[in-house]
Amino acid sequence: MKKLILDLDTGVDDTLAIAYALGSPEVELIGITGTYGNVLMEQGVRNALAITDILGHPEVPVYKGLPHASTKDGFEVLPISAFIHGENGIGDVEIPDSGRDAQDGGVDFIVDAVKTYGKDLIIVPTGPQTNVAAAIRKAPEIVDEVGRIVLMGGALTVPGNVNAWTEANISQDPDAANFVFRSGVPATMVGLDVTLQTLLTYKETRRWRDLGTAAGKALADITDFYIKAYETTAPHLGGCGLHDPLAVGVAVDPTLVTCLPINMKVDVDGPTRGRTIGDEQRLNDPVKTMEAAVQVDVDRFLDEFMTRISNLAAA
Ligand code: BDR
Ligand code: CA
Repeated sequence: MKKLILDLDTGVDDTLAIAYALGSPEVELIGITGTYGNVLMEQGVRNALAITDILGHPEVPVYKGLPHASTKDGFEVLPISAFIHGENGIGDVEIPDSGRDAQDGGVDFIVDAVKTYGKDLIIVPTGPQTNVAAAIRKAPEIVDEVGRIVLMGGALTVPGNVNAWTEANISQDPDAANFVFRSGVPATMVGLDVTLQTLLTYKETRRWRDLGTAAGKALADITDFYIKAYETTAPHLGGCGLHDPLAVGVAVDPTLVTCLPINMKVDVDGPTRGRTIGDEQRLNDPVKTMEAAVQVDVDRFLDEFMTRISNLAAA
């Protein structure tokens, strides 16, 4: 069975990514590592602990990762992130704090997991690439040993969501993302090209609330906050983007998307800093270590998403 690590800045869609992973019998979620972005790293791991508890999986260990990019002295949550995910990252919904604590050593946990599970391990980062880059710097051989990285971030064929060329996760640490993209690690980029096509509405969250369980109510309340924010920031979409759960969906079943094999880089200099684009030095290399998802089977993904999460939340 494939093993999964989720590397999360646990906001709302990261929460739904946890639920998708826990609702997928094909994979085992062996741990969560915390990063920063939607919230501070410390808040993100608190959320991940509380969410795994309420979803009935307190056995999943949660580790603290790095609190900011190595090129910066610290990290502050942007006002837009608090608007979209809530001050606490989970839609300002109060759910019981976990009795558990996050463990130190998220980067070491990633390295050790690659050593233990090798090609059976898929790492799914749905925030900045800071932890994954640190793991590769620490143990460069893991790029040949790990199964795959399936990351939510970037945009190849559509504009960014921070500005015309940058997506939020990549924008937090473009240097780390560039390092990972050019490291030769097998990686699938699940970016805005596909994640802005997979949308959720109040109709679906009502189904979770109608389950009458604490988990169903929590997921519905948390996600409704996010749908409401999308009504203000992107009313033309008609729902909220299922960014992070789609990355988990692709890790579980790669046939949900069609990918373009392409060696990529991230612009780290100049006005386009944070842009994800083909690496001109490796474009003609017949060996493609990366691929970018450019098409998604929207209906099939939404079916899988609703079935898996509803079954989990009903239990
Ligand atoms: C990404 O940015 C974060 O706000 C979301 O959780 C998602 O990972 C979308 O650009
Ligand atoms: Ca995220």
